[in-house]
Amino acid sequence: MPVLEPVPLPEYEGVTYISLRAFREKGPEQTIKDVKDFQSRETDVIICTYLKAGVHWLDEIITMLVNNTTTLASGTKGQRTLEGITELSVLDSLPSPRILNTHLSFKYIPTKHVQNKGKIVHMIRNPKDICVSLYHHARRDVVMNYDVPWETYFENWMSGKVFYGSWYDYELEMEEASLQYPGIIYTCYYEDFKREPKTQIRKLADFLEITVSDQILENIIEATSFKNMQSKKTDHTKFVNMKEEKGFIYRKGDIGDWKTHFTVNQNNRFDAQFKERMKNSKYTITFE
Ligand code: A3P
Repeated sequence: MPVLEPVPLPEYEGVTYISLRAFREKGPEQTIKDVKDFQSRETDVIICTYLKAGVHWLDEIITMLVNNTTTLASGTKGQRTLEGITELSVLDSLPSPRILNTHLSFKYIPTKHVQNKGKIVHMIRNPKDICVSLYHHARRDVVMNYDVPWETYFENWMSGKVFYGSWYDYELEMEEASLQYPGIIYTCYYEDFKREPKTQIRKLADFLEITVSDQILENIIEATSFKNMQSKKTDHTKFVNMKEEKGFIYRKGDIGDWKTHFTVNQNNRFDAQFKERMKNSKYTITFE
C-alpha cells in the first residue's frame, strides 16, 4: 500500500477527523453517510471505541473467539474500519459473522445495525492514558499530520479539539445509547482486560454467545498478549513517519503511562474536568 501524502484534515459538523482514504476520496459528509447507510447483517459485530482504547487488541481477541482459533490474524483491523473504506461493498465478500469496527460516535453507526439489534462491543479506557497514547500516535501518523509539542496538544485535548471530537462526548453518547438500546452494547474496560484477561474474555464470549474452553482461553490470552502482538503483528510502520521499527500501534500497552507525561498542574486540571463531565456517569474508570 503506498504511503499517503499529508492533506488538510477533514471536518464534519465541527469535528476534525483523520484523513483516512475514504475521507480523502469521498469527503467527510459522504463517508459518514455511507457508514450510516451501510447494509449491516444481523450477525455483524461492530467494535466501537474512541481512539487508542484498544481496538487492535479487542479485534484480535474477538476474531479468535469467533473463528475458534488462537493464531494471530494475518490482516489488520484497519481493513474493516467502516469510515476508512471507500467502497463499503468490499465487505460483502466477508463471511458471517463479520467483525467490523469504527471510531465514529454512536449517532453515525449503521442505522440498520441498531434496528437489527446487532451486537456492539465497546471498549473504554481511562482518558489520561488515551490522551498520552493519542499524542504519540498523532505525531507520527501521516493521516493526522499533527506534530505539536505536548503542552499544545494537552490544551487541545482539554478543549475537546482532538480527532473524532472530545472523549467525553463520545463516551457519554455511548452510555446514553446503552440505556436507549438495552442489551446490544457490551461495554468493557481496557484496564480490566489487562488485570484479569481470563474473566474478561469469558464474559465477552458469553455476550457473543460463544462457548470457549479453558485451554483455548489461555491460548488466546497468550497469543494476544502485548508482547506477542507487538512482535508479530504488522505495526503500520511502513505507512507512517516513523524512524523506529516498532511501537506505533503497539507502543507500551501499560496502565498509567500518563504519569510520565502529565505535570501536577495538568493532572489537577484534568481531574477537575473529568469530575465535572462525568458527574452523572456510571462508568467505573480507573487510572492506575
Ligand atoms: P499505548 O499507546 O498506551 O501503548 P488502538 O488499538 O485503539 O489504536 O489502541 C492502541 C493502544 O492499545 C496502545 O496503547 C497499544 O499499545 C495498546 N495495545 C495494543 N495491543 C495491546 C495488547 N495486546 N495488550 C495491551 N495493550 C495493547
